[in-house]
Amino acid sequence: MLENLCLLVGHRLEREVMRTVPIIAAKTSLFGFLALFHSVLHMATMSAAQKHTCSSSAILSTGPLGFPYTTPDPFLFCVFHRDMYPAGNEKNMHAPRKGNGADFDWSKPYRMYHGIDIAGFPQHPHRGFETITATLEGIIDHTDSLGNAGRYGHGDVQWMTAGKGVVHGENFPLVETEKPNFTKFFQIWLNLPAKNKMADASFKMHWNENIPRVKQEGVTVHVWAGEVEGKTALQPTPFSWAQDDANDVAIFAFELMPSKEFYVPAAKGGSHTNRALYFIEGDEMLCNGKSFTKPVHLTMDGGQPFEIKNNGPSGSKPMLCLLLQGRPIAEPVAKYGPFVMNTQQEIQQAFSDYRATQFGGWPWKDDAMVFPRTKGRFALLNGAETYPPV
Ligand SMILES: [Fe+2]
Repeated sequence: MLENLCLLVGHRLEREVMRTVPIIAAKTSLFGFLALFHSVLHMATMSAAQKHTCSSSAILSTGPLGFPYTTPDPFLFCVFHRDMYPAGNEKNMHAPRKGNGADFDWSKPYRMYHGIDIAGFPQHPHRGFETITATLEGIIDHTDSLGNAGRYGHGDVQWMTAGKGVVHGENFPLVETEKPNFTKFFQIWLNLPAKNKMADASFKMHWNENIPRVKQEGVTVHVWAGEVEGKTALQPTPFSWAQDDANDVAIFAFELMPSKEFYVPAAKGGSHTNRALYFIEGDEMLCNGKSFTKPVHLTMDGGQPFEIKNNGPSGSKPMLCLLLQGRPIAEPVAKYGPFVMNTQQEIQQAFSDYRATQFGGWPWKDDAMVFPRTKGRFALLNGAETYPPV
C-alpha cells in the first residue's frame, strides 16, 4: 500500500512555538515556563506530524464522473454545468439556436437543457429536499411559485429549501453582448430528514462578497458549507441538514494552480461522516500521493485527512475539485424525478398535490422567465428586494 508521509515544514513548527511561548512566559515562573515549553513543543510536534500524515488508504474507492455525479447520503444529486454560451445580441438574451426541450449534448460548446429559446430549466416542481446552486461564473435567473425571484452568479450561492413544494425556473440569460457568456456552476441536492420534508419552501442568497474563502498563493477554497482553515460558511437555511454542526456537512470547491496543494483534516464525525471528492478539471491530481490524470470520483474515509495537489506542469490550467461531506440521514429514500420522499406513497401524494395546487401556481408571464439585461444581481423574497453588498 502506497503511503505518502507529507513533509513537515520546519519553520511552520518554529513559528507556532515562537508565537505561543512569549504569552506563556509572561505568566509563569522559570520552572513552570520550561515545563510548559517542552509540553508545547511536544504538542506542536505531535499535531504537526499527525496533521501531515496522509495515507492512500483514505481513498476507499474510485469511479468515473457521471452526469449527474454519484453522491453519498445525505446528498442526492450533483451536477457541474460548464457551458460556453456565445455573446448575446442587442435585441434579446436568447441563445442563437433553439433547444428541443431536452438538450444535454456534451459534444457541443453549450447545452440548452430543457430550454427552447433560453438555455436552462423553465418552471418545474420540487418537494422534499434542498437545492444548492453554487456558481463560479455566469448568471442564473430564478423565479418561483411563491413569487420569489433572483438574479445571481459569479460566485453567489442560492440555497433553496423545496420542503413541502415549490415550482421554480432556473434560466441562463445571455446578459453579456461583448463577450461570451461562460457559465460554470454546481447544482447539489441535499436531502431533508423526514421531519423537515414538509417545511415551508424558501431560499437564502449567499452573495459572492460574503462567502468565506481560504486564499493562499495559487489556492482558493470556496467554503459553501462547513469549516476549514478557520473559515466558516454562511448559515444555511433553517430546516437544512447542514444547520446542525453535528451533521458535519461540508461543501468545498478547490481551485489550485499547478504545484499548489491543500490539506483537509479528518471529518469531526470520523468514519461515520461520508465524504466524496470529485476531480473535475486539471491535468493531474495527486490525492494522498496517488495520481489521477482523468476526472474521477473518489469515495473518501471521513476518519482520515487528505491532501490534494495540482500536479500539472507549470503553466497548465488550474485544477478544480469539489468535496461533499456529511453524516448520513440514514432514512429510506423514495425518489421520482423532482420529488424525494421516504416512501412511494409520499411520492404519489406529491404528484397528486402538485396536480391539485401547482404548489401555489405560476405568477410569472413566461415559463422560462428572465429579467432585463440591465438589471443587476438581486434577491426578491417575500416582497422585499435585496442586493449584494456594495
Ligand atoms: Fe430545479
